[in-house]
Amino acid sequence: MTKKISIIGAGMTGATTAHWLAEREIADLVLVDIMEGMPQGKALDLAEAMPIINKDVKVVGTNSYADTKGSDIVIITAGLPRKPGMSRDDLLTANAEIVSKAAVETLKYSPDAYYIVLTNPLDTMAYLTLKKTGLPRNRVVGQAGVLDSTRMRAFVAMETGVSVENISCYVLGGHGDEMVPLTRHSNIAGVPLRDYLPADRLEAIVQRTRKGGGEIVNLLKTGSAFYAPAAACAQMAEAILKDKKLIVPAAAYMQGEYGLNDIYFGVPVMLGANGVEKIIEYNLDDDEKAELEKSAAAVKDTHEALKSLVNM
Ligand code: NAI
Ligand code: 2OP
Repeated sequence: MTKKISIIGAGMTGATTAHWLAEREIADLVLVDIMEGMPQGKALDLAEAMPIINKDVKVVGTNSYADTKGSDIVIITAGLPRKPGMSRDDLLTANAEIVSKAAVETLKYSPDAYYIVLTNPLDTMAYLTLKKTGLPRNRVVGQAGVLDSTRMRAFVAMETGVSVENISCYVLGGHGDEMVPLTRHSNIAGVPLRDYLPADRLEAIVQRTRKGGGEIVNLLKTGSAFYAPAAACAQMAEAILKDKKLIVPAAAYMQGEYGLNDIYFGVPVMLGANGVEKIIEYNLDDDEKAELEKSAAAVKDTHEALKSLVNM
């Protein structure tokens, strides 16, 4: 394989991202973690599965950033996950230190890499990665919108019985409970959700989407979701490596788009060989604008809290 993806953090999301990526056979994989033996064990186990699924993917597990040398993509998942009763913002202090180190160390060995950030609080960890690496904004993207949108798609499919393939949903805004599921733009085979579903059923889906992460945390009790977040990271990495020009909601650095500046925020982006190649601006009505402004204010607060913790 000529391409290389390094995943920092070999816990639930990191290892599962490696799993989904190996299935796609698009790059060799490196799993990095501070736990001794754990990334090595998971990498060996995954490598031993390759003959069964007929994929020629090399998988390395390591405690050393030197093994990430020459990566095309770095995916940062290292950090603490939520436990019941915690918000994503409760993770800020611990994860800022972990993500800072991951960003700086990986850049030393892979100066040309594109970064996909998953660690929470997501928008602020993507912001931190941009500031710590000093990279241009097209090279640092945060994963949240693909996950929030696939949750909404899944809930719509459960409600209607329609194939997930016919369901397109767009959830914008920060990766918090103020995220903005767009019911006017989301559709089933071209029919806006607002026209397809009764208002009360649609509102229930919107609320369930907003709290989708917490629903899984409350069920798991020991951590947070990993299958769907990892699948989202794999889809984004593939879009970049294959230059797909895939439009997905993701956290991008705002420079005037949607009236926002100097924050990471979930908006529709085009992912291709140059990372975030375009930010797409939807026509929004007054209600949608107001919801996005509320979500942006919450993200901005977390950015400000970060600035009081970390020199950038
Ligand atoms: P986990 O606890 O299973 O794995 C995290 C891993 O990071 C652990 O193996 C830990 O040893 C490792 N780690 C800690 N410090 C490190 C360091 N300095 N260098 C390298 N590795 C280090 O947690 P999980 O479930 O994988 O979640 C990881 C993060 O992703 C959490 O912050 C979680 O909230 C976030 N997340 C974000 C989502 C999103 O949509 N943006 C979705 C799911 C999780
Ligand atoms: C989620 O939404 C934990 O942010 C993560 O599942």
